[in-house]
Amino acid sequence: MGAIALRTEIPGPRSVELHARREQAVPRGPFHVTPVYIERASGVIVEDVDGNRFMDFAGGIGVLNVGHTHQRVVAQIEEQAPLFTHACFHVTPYEVYIRLAEKLNELAPIDGKKKTFFVNSGAESVENAVKIARAFTGRPAVICFEDAFHGRTLLGLSLTSKIAPYKAGFGPFAPEVYRVPYAYCYRCAYNLTHPSCETFCATHLEDAFSRYVEPAAVAAVIAEPVLGEGGFVVPPENYFRELQKVCRRHGILIIADEVQSGMGRTGRFFASEHYGLRPDIILSSKSLASGLPLAAVIGRADIMDAPDVGGLGGTFGGNPIACQSALAVLEALESENLLERAEDIGRLVKARATTWKDRFPLVGDVRGLGAMVGIELVEDRNTKKPAKEAANTVSALALQRGLITITAGTYGNVIRTLMPLVISDDELEEGLDVLESALESAGS
Ligand SMILES: Cc1ncc(COP(=O)(O)O)c(C=O)c1O
Repeated sequence: MGAIALRTEIPGPRSVELHARREQAVPRGPFHVTPVYIERASGVIVEDVDGNRFMDFAGGIGVLNVGHTHQRVVAQIEEQAPLFTHACFHVTPYEVYIRLAEKLNELAPIDGKKKTFFVNSGAESVENAVKIARAFTGRPAVICFEDAFHGRTLLGLSLTSKIAPYKAGFGPFAPEVYRVPYAYCYRCAYNLTHPSCETFCATHLEDAFSRYVEPAAVAAVIAEPVLGEGGFVVPPENYFRELQKVCRRHGILIIADEVQSGMGRTGRFFASEHYGLRPDIILSSKSLASGLPLAAVIGRADIMDAPDVGGLGGTFGGNPIACQSALAVLEALESENLLERAEDIGRLVKARATTWKDRFPLVGDVRGLGAMVGIELVEDRNTKKPAKEAANTVSALALQRGLITITAGTYGNVIRTLMPLVISDDELEEGLDVLESALESAGS
């Protein structure tokens, strides 16, 4: 018997009832992908309020690398909760915050001495990284990328690329933000092909200094080592090294937004490690604390110390329960060899998805780094017209068959896989069988 077990129509009656209440009580803005309401979850399995068991290939959008309700995570939360749930690090600091900072300083691929501080969300970490980069360099501008996603706060949104539904109607945006093409080889902005292009998009950053902004005004370049919301786009291996050379030449800091690509997802603690990228600041969140609201800004010590005392912080940042949860996540990643497992999962998913590329014309591209694999759907392989509707259909069909998936991409036409890394081979096969059958139905 498989892990998936469906007992009612999807959505079942309890979910339908909750949805009616949701529509009355909650605005439509906060979207949700599935019409089912969760009751409990464990590992890679989500059980809804009607008793249906789904396999989870979304992980709450990349937050559950160690799986739902991991024993170690739950135990450390339970250990901390009765001691104190909040003190505010700015009032009476506590050890678990420091322990986690020390651990992340050890792990981050940043040169020299490092320091870390904590906030509540990915977007907040982006905001703070830019503040710190500005304080250190005394420069105002930030360069970001097409198809990037950096959150929904004003500066995060200004750095985010996708217009609808993220930015439309929410302007004016923050100033001194300049956007250049990313290394999206499948849809190269310069119509070139790798490797004969010699990674033109990286060295062409110099062109921005003629067209958009003088380099002496640029505090930082902010980049995702693998685009998350932008469609799981993996740059060529030498891209970031070339980009880094340009940045170093002009004294521009590199902020690696590893909110989605970090915490073991790609087979390394940080995806930057795959490219030999040595960022000045790294952002971590999502899977860092397995769902408890926590984000880390990790950076070179001299850069992190640029803002004055009191210049950084927030009431909840580095909540003790969230920090305990993060320490449990780091221990689980190490003790259960989940980084190696991420590589295995990535290999298995890619191998299977590559056969889909041979069988289904809908599948235009399969790409990924470790267990961060994206399947880009197109209406026509020659024109590469994005197949957004088909992607939604695949996701909806998969749900009807017991698999939770989410889409990504500026055109919404990429199926992304963010399954917990604790998934067994049998579970993975079962989930991929469902995805395959959904692709087959959608493409025929
Ligand atoms: C790369 C990246 N940066 C920032 C964010 C924003 O994180 P949050 O939703 O926690 O604010 C996200 C969220 O998806 C992300 O993927």
